[in-house]
Amino acid sequence: MKVTVVGAGAVGASCAEYIAIKNFASEVVILDIKEGYAEGKAMDLMQCASLNGFDTKITGSTNDYSKTANSDICVITSGIPRKPGMTREELIGINAGIVKTVSTSLVEHSPNTIIIVVSNPMDTMTYLVHKTTGLPKHRIIGMGGALDSARFKYRLAEALEAPISDVDGMVIGGHSDKGMVPLTSHATRNSIKVSEFLSEERLNQVKEDTKVGGATLTKLLGTSAWYAPGAAVSGLVQAIACDQKKIFPCSALLDGEYGLNDLCIGVPVILGRKGIEKIVDVPLSAAEKAHMVESAEGVKKTNGLLEL
Ligand code: LAC
Repeated sequence: MKVTVVGAGAVGASCAEYIAIKNFASEVVILDIKEGYAEGKAMDLMQCASLNGFDTKITGSTNDYSKTANSDICVITSGIPRKPGMTREELIGINAGIVKTVSTSLVEHSPNTIIIVVSNPMDTMTYLVHKTTGLPKHRIIGMGGALDSARFKYRLAEALEAPISDVDGMVIGGHSDKGMVPLTSHATRNSIKVSEFLSEERLNQVKEDTKVGGATLTKLLGTSAWYAPGAAVSGLVQAIACDQKKIFPCSALLDGEYGLNDLCIGVPVILGRKGIEKIVDVPLSAAEKAHMVESAEGVKKTNGLLEL
């Protein structure tokens, strides 16, 4: 199993690190445009191998896509991250050009690859990769919902004063501050609905804290987060590599599912060796349905800024 991670920045490096630590991939190639940077990150990570007990071979490359040839999975993290006060949508101008070039080069060398898109604005960048590469829709996956759901579970556990392992919940919709739809109606603590434990007001607070999860961290860190994004990507990569058939909310190209068409947005999907093996339809409350429609309008508006 060969995995390429494009972008040796904080998200790309943490993604490579988590993939290696989980020890399921034979090879990870990190690629970056900055001379020597990916090689340096790869060497530093490889020097963790004997300490952390993994056998994954990590190599780095300065923009030489021949090194990525025949990758089973490619992760695109390249582009600029947001600064405090910026929305993910404001990154579109620079990141669209980068994602277009990167996805074209990846597919040239790995025509059978599955692509995971992390660059922001993620749902629009995922749509752009579809338009640019023309790969079958089950092989292009946007990572946002897995991260937003992890942040939702963190906030739920905090409100419930419960361990995170006791909590389950999912965030669908667009990967943006306004677009996220945390499914409070489905969230549980050890199979008991969280509404049994939390007031509507507290649940609303959890929802709001989840939606600004990325922005809160950007303000604290001065740039966007990397540990949880890296961990979330590694979860998707593992589900595909190990054919786990796990459900994650991912940005997928919709063709009528959830009443939506011609956009990529977060919905629950089953991930296995073929990529997106099924889009799962879950019943939504009236409020969640309305929020999903609004979220889709937001994503389409950002897609409208693309020069296709
Ligand atoms: C975040 C970025 C990765 O939410 O979109 O932290």
